[in-house]
Amino acid sequence: MRIGMLTGGGDCPGLNAVIRAVVRKGVLHYGDEFVGFREGWRGVIDDKTMPLDLETTSGILHRGGTILRSSRTNVKKIEGGFEKCLEVIARHKLDALIAMGGDDTQSISVELAKRGVNCVGVPKTIDNDLSGTDACFGFDTAVTIGTEAVDRLHSTTEAHSRVQVVEVMGRDAGWIAVTVGTAGGADVTLVPELPIDMDDVVRLLRARWESGKRFAIVVVAEGAKLPEQTAQISVGTKLDAFGHVRLSGIGQVLAEEIEKRTGYETRSVNLGHTQRGGTPTAYDRMLATRYGVAAIDLVHAGRFGRLVVLKGTQITNIPLEEAIAKTRTVGEDLFEAIKGLQPKG
Ligand code: F6P
Repeated sequence: MRIGMLTGGGDCPGLNAVIRAVVRKGVLHYGDEFVGFREGWRGVIDDKTMPLDLETTSGILHRGGTILRSSRTNVKKIEGGFEKCLEVIARHKLDALIAMGGDDTQSISVELAKRGVNCVGVPKTIDNDLSGTDACFGFDTAVTIGTEAVDRLHSTTEAHSRVQVVEVMGRDAGWIAVTVGTAGGADVTLVPELPIDMDDVVRLLRARWESGKRFAIVVVAEGAKLPEQTAQISVGTKLDAFGHVRLSGIGQVLAEEIEKRTGYETRSVNLGHTQRGGTPTAYDRMLATRYGVAAIDLVHAGRFGRLVVLKGTQITNIPLEEAIAKTRTVGEDLFEAIKGLQPKG
């Protein structure tokens, strides 16, 4: 078969591992040929390609980013965008298209599938917020980086008897924050799912000081909000092609508020894109590889319009529509478990 492949949306560690797995199984077991589209959907529209074979995908398993590059190109916003995609797909005589991406990228696959393209999706996002899968690759690397940062911040925060606020990514879901906060032993963890209760934050910090530990770590998700905020804090008001603002800044606002209310010196650090960079963890390489193998098998089974997913320990697949229907947020049970580690209110 001739198969196209692309990576869309924010990059994430493990994308190269998927590309490598798809190509290896495709070439070695099915005799497939591949066309790599550069920069996500933009590459399909503009017909920007690169060869994908055993040679070009060798030595990439451990590399972060994506050899195909990525973009947040929204085909729906480009006049005649879908027609251009169909033209290019036909020109390359593609039998199928594998798109690696989150809900935005997969929403384009859904539209192309309706127009007759044989699409298969692979779930990718450090936010871990895609419905229908228990895990997206990239998340483990992001939380490992975040936890390591919190570990490092402990010593300097303690040395200066400060509160250190650590802002992490995750958009509208608190998966990164709760995992980094819990694994890093943060004293307070704040997520988009629950409005920030400043009285409770102050209570927890005071309890920490009174226990004799005169320093504290607060982990906050970029999408978390104070009750008086009407919108999440962002850099400017510009929206990307899928209508998202650039979330950033809640950490600094929170640090100022904490210092004002407690009198404890408070600093903030925003981990930002550090969380998406560098080499993927072994877990992410393994998950990404399993997704890649499952995706090419799905293509050869003729099961199109589907996304490979992880359920428990098994790789399976679901309709693409199901994955983009809603954002998977953190459940009440996890918040309750974390509360069990904190002094009672
Ligand atoms: O969706 C992944 C993510 O890293 C979010 O956590 C974050 O809000 C966003 O992408 C940042 O996007 P960009 O790389 O376009 O600034």
